[in-house]
Amino acid sequence: MLRPPHDRYEKLHVYYLDRRDLPPVDDPDLIGIWVEDDTAILFFHRERGALVDRLCRQCGAGIIYQASLDYRDWEAGVQVTSFATAALCVRPVWEAAGAGPSGPEEIVLDPSVIFGSGFHATTRLCLENLESLMLAPERRIRSVLDLGTGTGLLAIAAARLGAERVLALDNNPLAVEVARKNVTLNNCCDRVLVEQADLLDGGMPGTRGYDLVVANLYKGLLTHLFASAQFWQGQMYLVSGFLPGMEAELLSALPSGSIRMLHRGMREQWRLWLLERKV
Ligand SMILES: C[S@@+](CC[C@H](N)C(=O)[O-])C[C@H]1O[C@@H](n2cnc3c(N)ncnc32)[C@H](O)[C@@H]1O
Repeated sequence: MLRPPHDRYEKLHVYYLDRRDLPPVDDPDLIGIWVEDDTAILFFHRERGALVDRLCRQCGAGIIYQASLDYRDWEAGVQVTSFATAALCVRPVWEAAGAGPSGPEEIVLDPSVIFGSGFHATTRLCLENLESLMLAPERRIRSVLDLGTGTGLLAIAAARLGAERVLALDNNPLAVEVARKNVTLNNCCDRVLVEQADLLDGGMPGTRGYDLVVANLYKGLLTHLFASAQFWQGQMYLVSGFLPGMEAELLSALPSGSIRMLHRGMREQWRLWLLERKV
């Protein structure tokens, strides 16, 4: 995340280590540590080879891979900047207020190195559909469950657009840290709770009582969730993170007879479904 003396991301220096249990890293250039399975990926603003070598010697870790890249390349070649949807304006923390397009509701975001800057087609699809749902006068969406929240953007958007209670979950500890920071930046701690949970490993909460479940994930995890009865206790579902060639398999994984498809969205090669549980 951004901490003084840094106020934007330019270069990323990435060190991929073969252990996750590292001693604490206290360095002003550390952006964050991404823990995955038994490995840890350290992201720095500046080259930190000597520090990482020392760390490895201290705990017996080895470097699997290291790289330096532009932040823009990390973000798939896209320049992360302010953008507006019909009702929201999303501004990265490094841009001054009023510099970009204006919208009635502004979200300030530190995207860090976490999925959810708003520039991936699936995030944008979810954001725009979330907005339409939240603003539809015939629907009253009070509670939202955001599965795989990433930066927390969709959870914060839901709160900004009227949700009174949002639970946002992610299994990546750095995503949880970043999403919490973004929730604080946007003054919605009273409505958005961010927790670490692995949806594949007992962390999937019951969806009963949620008006909307947002799940921008990936096909394997969606198929896993679709097979669970407790996933299907919510009212509506915004599901994304899959490509046209995956739709048939996902469709056949929906519980037969109890789910209605309300809308199919597309952006670039990505797809989104809006589903409703029949009552
Ligand atoms: C495609 S990103 C979506 C992020 C954000 N919701 C958005 O729309 O931009 C998927 C997110 O799911 C999280 N995730 C992946 N597997 C997970 C699991 N087993 N349990 C919980 N979260 C998971 C990832 O860490 C990532 O942040």
